[in-house]
Amino acid sequence: MKALILAGGTGSRMRPITHTAAKQLVPVANKPILFYAIEALVAAGITELGVVVGDTEREIRAAVGDGSRFGARVTYIAQDRPRGLAHAVLVSRDFLADDDFVMYLGDNILVSGITDVVARFRRERPAAGILLTKVADPRQFGVVELSPDGQVVRLTEKPEHPRSDLALVGVYLFSPAVHEAVRSVPVSARGELEITDAVQWLVDHGHTVRPTVVTGYWKDTGNVADTLEVNRTILETLAPEVLGSVDSSSELVGRVRVERGASVVRSRIVGPAVIGANTVVADSYIGPSTSVADDCRITGSELEFSIVLNRSVIDGVGRIEASLIGRDARVRRAGKVPRAHRLVLGDHSNVQIAS
Ligand code: DAU
Repeated sequence: MKALILAGGTGSRMRPITHTAAKQLVPVANKPILFYAIEALVAAGITELGVVVGDTEREIRAAVGDGSRFGARVTYIAQDRPRGLAHAVLVSRDFLADDDFVMYLGDNILVSGITDVVARFRRERPAAGILLTKVADPRQFGVVELSPDGQVVRLTEKPEHPRSDLALVGVYLFSPAVHEAVRSVPVSARGELEITDAVQWLVDHGHTVRPTVVTGYWKDTGNVADTLEVNRTILETLAPEVLGSVDSSSELVGRVRVERGASVVRSRIVGPAVIGANTVVADSYIGPSTSVADDCRITGSELEFSIVLNRSVIDGVGRIEASLIGRDARVRRAGKVPRAHRLVLGDHSNVQIAS
């Protein structure tokens, strides 16, 4: 069995973080979202991976490489434009050949992994397996209606008036029957070749499509609150370890990971939290559900339920909560006179000031 990981497209919904980075590389608990997909596939015994890339190909290649560090072999497949998930299958035909495969959307995280669903698919070999989860607002997903006995009746992409609360999770299992389906579906109203329509085509042509309802699912929605929430969930599974240095006047409480080269000085860290490699935390408090990436400096500040990306500096600013701070950002106390906020913010930035 192979896998197709979709890492093309543009990240317009995660701005401003994705002005400068592929959305699949936004880190959660200091690890790019995309790596969770790769690790889940390898854990399920799938090591032959095709990665579909678009404009951000260079960045994805630099992060993933040849896959050997994950114990996988990666083939990159270029897609000229994000023409839809079914189009990504079309352009991957040579790589996929006539093998079964898992299609994994690179901006999705399934906290429970996919080992069991892959094992079941291998045993039962339906034409397709789809994963579903109950969501509060199904309008931003593919929505699936099941019959009373649990059979797939209808799939609709982002319906205005959803007829169920079961959303398609971005992990699909396919037999080679899907290739005829992706060749057969028309371009949708939003101008894409939809995998949702291809799965409907399989249902309509009498193929078995097996639904499995899962929990512990998260997808990038461009919503900072969701990103912080998944960061919190993943941090709860983190292995606590101190690889850097923690001085005797500092205290670590609960599940805390301090990466190599990081130093914690006169500070208190209450987990779950991770401090990235070569980051300095001095005279500060880091509270639960916080990920600080590599090469940051947090001094004289308090930070809780937040994500800070590489090389950022937070210095003497009191308490920061529920925040997502991008790369190379600087948040510092202003000089005493005049008392004013001085801001240099990128496009689509979002700032709330407490005083
Ligand atoms: O996340 C689950 C949802 O994913 C499903 O519920 C929907 O049925 C499905 O259509 C899909 O919806 P999205 O609109 O959220 O997909 P998005 O455009 O965000 O693309 C998902 C991933 O695939 C993302 O990492 C970018 C990549 N992609 C997307 C397209 C359209 C490609 O690599 N190539 C493409 O052509």
